[in-house]
Amino acid sequence: MKILVTGGTGYIGSHTCVELIEAGHEVVIVDNLYNSSKGVLQKIETISGVLPKFYETDILDKEGLEKVFAENKFDAVIHFAGYKAVGESVAIPLTYYENNIAGSINLYQLMKKYEVRNLVFSSSATVYGDDFEVPFKEEYGLGTTTNPYGTTKKMNEMIITDMDKAEPENSSVLLRYFNPIGAHSSGLIGEIPNGIPNNLVPYIAQVVSGQRDYLRVWGNDYDTVDGTGVRDYIHVVDLAKAHVKAIEYAAAHKGTEVINIGTGKGYSVLEVLHAYEKACGHSIPYKIMERRPGDIAVCYADTKKAEKLLGFKAQYDIEQMCKDSYNFTKKLEIE
Ligand code: NAD
Ligand code: UD1
Repeated sequence: MKILVTGGTGYIGSHTCVELIEAGHEVVIVDNLYNSSKGVLQKIETISGVLPKFYETDILDKEGLEKVFAENKFDAVIHFAGYKAVGESVAIPLTYYENNIAGSINLYQLMKKYEVRNLVFSSSATVYGDDFEVPFKEEYGLGTTTNPYGTTKKMNEMIITDMDKAEPENSSVLLRYFNPIGAHSSGLIGEIPNGIPNNLVPYIAQVVSGQRDYLRVWGNDYDTVDGTGVRDYIHVVDLAKAHVKAIEYAAAHKGTEVINIGTGKGYSVLEVLHAYEKACGHSIPYKIMERRPGDIAVCYADTKKAEKLLGFKAQYDIEQMCKDSYNFTKKLEIE
């Protein structure tokens, strides 16, 4: 298939482009490089042997985006482009709604105009809010989101569902990612955080590389194995492979499907820290702090639907995730 990948030079997008190319698909990337760089394109080429066609285009620029549709006959779209910082979304909600909603609507309108029927959308476990019991199941539906970022994901899910009802030829897969971490085993692509990382593994990586003194563990009085928060971490390469299956599923079916992508297994903050210590070969300093507002104790996926519909099962364990994150961070320091 010829697939438009919005946000394709970003963290998850770049890994997905590699997997799509390796599965024999043709990839065209649209990205405005707000949170990524052009250099990623050569890295995708080094890994996969193919330099993807690239448009430096903002999805808010509808005319610019239309040019991409006019010049290419797409079979499908994978839509990653968007802003993703939870705290920032609370401070500048309109910017988030504009980029993640208005930008997406431009894309969906052009898909309709150019009769591109197959879509995979990057949603998040954050749409479950804290309304439900773990493991989170797709059938729970949408919970109460706690920040504008989460609300943009929930709104996109609602928009796509309505759009597909009106257009029965459409096929969309809404992937609810749990916590993607790690990097490609080559160490060439991975996550480069913008400023001080909010997320656990990018923060640990910066403690290990000496940019931060210690990890602040947000609370150890939760009802979990060791009192620290538990999450379902998934290797980004597993997540990327799930996109290949999801877009192929979309092309072969009609309607809208919501599918969790996680491992189904939760790890505590301290368990992740210890796995990272094993990867880097030394201890990592940390301090227990107050709970972070808005955090939930435990979050992990029910993965049965992904297995049943997509035949997808995550392969990499937490140790491999930390090993690949460490390998990427080391290479970044050398660059
Ligand atoms: P990322 O920031 O690395 O990638 C997003 C890419 O989109 C970037 O390259 C950025 O430059 C581009 N972009 C942003 N706004 C754009 C615009 N208006 N026009 C064109 N390009 C634009 O983020 P990621 O971690 O790869 O996440 C990809 C998607 O997955 C996002 O939608 C994110 O919300 C979602 N998601 C991510 C996580 C996570 O933990 N990383 C979890 C759940 C969902
Ligand atoms: C966060 C977002 C979520 C988003 C997801 C993307 C919040 C409240 N939620 O989820 O909307 O979809 O990232 O992956 O920001 N932790 C520490 N110290 C740190 C960082 C994190 O102890 O410096 C702990 C957290 O308290 C949590 C766990 O590590 O228990 C994971 O945190 P994080 O990586 O931020 O992910 P989420 O909270 O799951």
